[in-house]
Amino acid sequence: MKLLPASNTKLCRTLSAFIFTALASATVQAVEFAKDDDAVYLRKAHMALVGTYFGEMGAMVKGKQPFDAKQFQTDVERLATVTRWAYEGFKGKHLTSDSKAKPEIWENKAEFNKLMDDLAKKSETLKIAAASGNLSDIKPAFKDAADSCSACHKKFKNK
Ligand code: HEC
Repeated sequence: MKLLPASNTKLCRTLSAFIFTALASATVQAVEFAKDDDAVYLRKAHMALVGTYFGEMGAMVKGKQPFDAKQFQTDVERLATVTRWAYEGFKGKHLTSDSKAKPEIWENKAEFNKLMDDLAKKSETLKIAAASGNLSDIKPAFKDAADSCSACHKKFKNK
């Protein structure tokens, strides 16, 4: 193959810049919301899922429901999946009377995102602990993840 003549280097650079931009924006691709209600609906749906799986794990950890290692692993798998994009409904500032989100979220977005990231990381740690099938390994990892929920709710969610 012939080496590219000088006149093509610019095209080459433009092309790589284009590819780079396309890749970079793919990683931040998120839904655009036509209505405030749509964003509120999505984030409440995400949080409801998080609450469902976390709630069942909590019942097992607290002995209110018999511990079932397989079920626990399924729950944490789902929790970890949802938390990976639970930030999406919080992306832009959308508030309605149906929302308990505090407007402070959008004034402290970096802190909010960090708390969401923390939960995602702790869910991964909990997943590893759950794979042991051993409740005594699971308990501290569960508690650590639960601290993430309350840290964010305390600061960014109305009662
Ligand atoms: C980074 C912040 C953050 C983290 C972490 C977080 N939440 Fe939330 N959560 C919120 C906010 C904000 C709302 C209110 C959303 C709204 O009403 O618009 C909410 C709402 C909820 C709701 C109510 C959903 C509904 O139907 O109204 C539940 C249940 C919930 N969270 C459970 C959890 C659990 C369980 C965890 C931890 C495993 C958790 N959340 C972690 C910010 C967070």
